[in-house]
Amino acid sequence: MDHPGTQTIRTGRLVLRRFTLDDAEVMFGNWASDPEVTRWLRWAAHRSWVETAEYLNEVVKQYSRPDFYDWAIEVKASGVVIGSISLARAEAGTPWPEVLTRMGEPWEAGYCIGRKWWSNGYATEALCAVRDYWFGAGGQWLCACHANDNVASGAVLEKAGFFYHHSGVSHRFDGTEVPCRSYALLKGTNE
Ligand SMILES: CC(C)(COP(=O)(O)OP(=O)(O)OC[C@H]1O[C@@H](n2cnc3c(N)ncnc32)[C@H](O)[C@@H]1OP(=O)(O)O)[C@@H](O)C(=O)NCCC(=O)NCCS
Repeated sequence: MDHPGTQTIRTGRLVLRRFTLDDAEVMFGNWASDPEVTRWLRWAAHRSWVETAEYLNEVVKQYSRPDFYDWAIEVKASGVVIGSISLARAEAGTPWPEVLTRMGEPWEAGYCIGRKWWSNGYATEALCAVRDYWFGAGGQWLCACHANDNVASGAVLEKAGFFYHHSGVSHRFDGTEVPCRSYALLKGTNE
């Protein structure tokens, strides 16, 4: 697959675009500092916007790689950045069947939205757009996993056409194990 990298994607209500360092303060205020959001993510809540700026500095450097995918989710109407969505190679050791891995290595979708904007369909809209982008670029399948108790994320995956495949364990960056449910989606099966 020829990776297209993080290019701008437009949907009905959203623009998915590359982050810039100028997004640090808004990212910190809108979701990165909120333990209720990061409770379900691999990383811990940031303690200051400087930490967010350091994180974004690394992200921005990676955009030169064609196989790097990390979008800021911006609401068209307000211009406010409300969250992020990414695609990344899945954690090694996940037991995906050969019928899938023969089509390509596992790439995993991840997303988060600031609490103030939950339950407006934004994560679903962003995931559907990234899903279509991936399949349009030649990807054959995608996966995702969510912590067992993170029911909202499971709802997002199902609305985007993903199917539950197996239960397992994922790891936070501090090494903590999180029981999770893994989903997959094959190109052409979400219509
Ligand atoms: C998961 C998350 C991204 C969802 O974002 P969102 O923009 O609110 O998602 P959507 O509005 O597109 O869809 C959420 C769905 O979950 C449902 N939902 C929300 N909370 C729920 C709950 N406690 N129990 C059951 N369903 C719930 C909503 O009703 C909605 O489904 P519906 O449209 O069928 O009603 C957001 O909650 C979030 O950022 N959480 C913290 C980070 C995170 O968990 N990221 C995913 C890691 S796997």
